Amino acid sequence: MLTSDISTPRTLEIRGLSVCATRRGHHIDLVRNLSLTLNTGEILALVGASGSGKSMTCAGAQGVLPPGVISPHGHVLVDGVHLAPRALRGRLVSTVLQNPRSAFNPVRTMFDHACEVRRVAAASPAGDKTAVREAFLEVGLEDADTVMDLYPFEMSGGMLQRVMIALAILSGAPFIFADEPTTDLDLIVQARILDLLSGLVARRGLGMLLVTHDMGVVARLATRVAVMEAGQIVEEAPVADIFHAPRHPATRALVAAHLKLYEGAIA
Ligand SMILES: Nc1ncnc2c1ncn2[C@@H]1O[C@H](COP(=O)(O)OP(=O)(O)O)[C@@H](O)[C@H]1O
Ligand SMILES: [Mg+2]
Repeated sequence: MLTSDISTPRTLEIRGLSVCATRRGHHIDLVRNLSLTLNTGEILALVGASGSGKSMTCAGAQGVLPPGVISPHGHVLVDGVHLAPRALRGRLVSTVLQNPRSAFNPVRTMFDHACEVRRVAAASPAGDKTAVREAFLEVGLEDADTVMDLYPFEMSGGMLQRVMIALAILSGAPFIFADEPTTDLDLIVQARILDLLSGLVARRGLGMLLVTHDMGVVARLATRVAVMEAGQIVEEAPVADIFHAPRHPATRALVAAHLKLYEGAIA
């Protein structure tokens, strides 16, 4: 099935995803039979303790697992149509990662990166400076023409994160997987990037899977929340229920830790 057969995607479903590795001869399940549905126009937060399998879920769904890690089971469907990972990546799903510096090729300019993203997304022409300029302006890179000629080492982490979000816009993908997108940024830049991401979802009607361990970010941005523990989703609910009526011990622990931190900060 070609990507172009899907005109206005509304849902992305991950069904029965398993991810596993072998360590010292032992088989380890990193993600176990995980299913979730992401709708366009919403932010679904994927939360859980460090090591619970959030990043492996994103990587497994897109077929970009590290060496030695495999996904023996799982499907991704967009509007009910089963798609191979290569049909998703950069076309229907774009990614915003935690460490923007390592996500860029050090010997390529920002414009080169934009052209590559447009080429993968089959946007024509790939080297359309006007489209790149508009995307850079939309993410608040006001001197867009100068930024196009910069290399990663010439930019701050916050600027690089803005470019990564601009690249997501340029891909035209209706879904974004944002894996801890603000973890490596200082607090003020974090707040700006979060505003930018939520504005993008609201304006463009994108569907965002927002991976985070920060319940403050969840409270501020998410519509729904899926909680992971040991490779499985143990609770899924609207954001208000997660904070006011958490059911699973893992959810209660995350909310309690968040409240403790918050109360400590205002004491
Ligand atoms: N390259 C790898 N090979 C084997 N196991 C890994 C690898 N990377 C991460 N893991 C393990 O996979 C589990 C889930 O990791 P991850 O998805 O990165 O967690 P999270 O994003 O929730 O913090 C962890 O137990 C981690 O130790
Ligand atoms: Mg992670």
